[in-house]
Amino acid sequence: MKSELLLVLALFLCVSSKPLSKRKMNNKLLLISFDGFRWDYDQDVNTPNLDKLVKEGVKAKYINPPAITMTSPSHFTTITGRWIEDHGVVHNLMFNDTTGLRVPHKATLKRSEWWDNGALPLWITAQNQGLKTGSFFYPGGGVNYGGQAVDRSLVADHGHPDDNETEWRQNIDTVMGWFTKDDLDFVTLYYGEPDNVGHAFGPETPERRKIIEQIDRTIGYLREAIHKSGLTDHLNVILTSDHGMTTVKKVNEIKLSNYMSLLNLTRFDLLDYGGFGMITPREGRQQEVYDALKNAHPNLTVYKKEEIPEHFHIRRHERIQPIVLLADLGFNINSRIILYINKGDHGYSNEEMDMKMIFRAFGPDFRDNFLAEPFDSVSIYPLMCKLLGVVPEANNGSLSDTKDMLVDNSDAGKHLIRLSEGAPLKNGLFHQSNRL
Ligand SMILES: *[C@@H]1O[C@H](CO)[C@@H](O)[C@H](O)[C@H]1NC(C)=O
Ligand SMILES: *[C@@H]1O[C@H](CO)[C@@H](O)[C@H](O)[C@H]1NC(C)=O
Ligand SMILES: *[C@@H]1O[C@H](CO)[C@@H](O)[C@H](O)[C@H]1NC(C)=O
Ligand SMILES: *[C@@H]1O[C@H](CO)[C@@H](O)[C@H](O)[C@H]1NC(C)=O
Ligand SMILES: *[C@@H]1O[C@H](CO)[C@@H](O)[C@H](O)[C@H]1NC(C)=O
Ligand SMILES: [Zn+2]
Repeated sequence: MKSELLLVLALFLCVSSKPLSKRKMNNKLLLISFDGFRWDYDQDVNTPNLDKLVKEGVKAKYINPPAITMTSPSHFTTITGRWIEDHGVVHNLMFNDTTGLRVPHKATLKRSEWWDNGALPLWITAQNQGLKTGSFFYPGGGVNYGGQAVDRSLVADHGHPDDNETEWRQNIDTVMGWFTKDDLDFVTLYYGEPDNVGHAFGPETPERRKIIEQIDRTIGYLREAIHKSGLTDHLNVILTSDHGMTTVKKVNEIKLSNYMSLLNLTRFDLLDYGGFGMITPREGRQQEVYDALKNAHPNLTVYKKEEIPEHFHIRRHERIQPIVLLADLGFNINSRIILYINKGDHGYSNEEMDMKMIFRAFGPDFRDNFLAEPFDSVSIYPLMCKLLGVVPEANNGSLSDTKDMLVDNSDAGKHLIRLSEGAPLKNGLFHQSNRL
């Protein structure tokens, strides 16, 4: 893969007279993720700023997260354009099924060995092509890839409050400074809400509506900040999330110890994290685990790893354990005791409407008043590459999902982009599929 990239770069340098100055013609890009922002959260709240963005930008009715609807797996799909089985970040926790190690989510954000599995995130690819990038709390932005760090990176500490509106604004000011004073080209900015409130109170509550109003004010502040920084005509913004949220009822708990002896049959598990679970059976006990759970509960689906439907795009990775469990919407998979007391949760099938997430975009390269069809979040990556003029890594997204959002979706001058889309060079040396 590396040598292919070098070839592409070499070809580019041969056919272009001024490669570096050309790159500067691209506008800057800010990717903002509000964790757990379900696609319809703006529909029962007064959100004047988000409403304004419908007229002054692009809205997708909703977009599809990848099949493990959890924070780290989904964010890493957005920033790499790869399915979960191809990027390997299969859970919010780093774990080792041999030693039983489980690293808490916040600590996992600092462990390169969990993230650096060969799929290069866009920060690193862009840096290797001469751009400057930054990550403000975005999952995966705080570690090294092949020893290389993101130019500017901040990682939230354990216990960092997620809902402080004053700090939210300061973070926007910091990011504006990164673009203007430090001349960064691409920044990812992450907010931990409305996920926390969705878990703690549930999605259909006044508390959730209140935090959406706070997010809406923050978007208003962002637009003012962009204007004051002189970036209105030079900065594109994509606003999205990682998954939705659904109401969990206490009565919907599925306690696996009711159906089997976890101690006798399993040597490792990732249970008690909502609607998605994995089990590592003891040597020779896989069929017993499977038989015990297969028809245990009408709202629990049990897969042997090899049975997981192909279209989930998770089963090829070695970190996926031999037994995978998926609960119906609103049900919780617990092991021995009911540990998980959230009123809202995610982790359910990405086909459920409650797991779908928000997508908005605005800036000089985006059309106004454009309603996009739903698409897979994996396709945000080739869109970001096109906006930045970066040659994408091999990925699972498709620019055809998003290119109609752009003002000029056939820009013949953007040489890098035409290469990356597989346009053959005159000498026919370059050939790639269009699903990069
Ligand atoms: C898990 O830990 C064992 C023992 O330290 C180690 O040999 C193995 O490589 C680890 N597995 C992974 C996937 O890191
Ligand atoms: C919110 O953030 C501001 C700015 O960082 C800080 O001064 C303030 O103490 C914080 N408030 C709370 C309740 O943490
Ligand atoms: C677990 O194994 C032990 C020892 O073989 C046995 O006594 C016990 O009944 C088993 N427990 C269950 C729930 O199967
Ligand atoms: C739980 O399973 C029952 C039986 O299959 C089904 O009728 C019900 O719709 C399921 N609940 C959910 C929330 O999917
Ligand atoms: C996803 O992209 C990777 C890298 O090109 C490729 O190896 C893999 O086969 C793709 N997955 C699917 C399902 O097309
Ligand atoms: Zn999340």
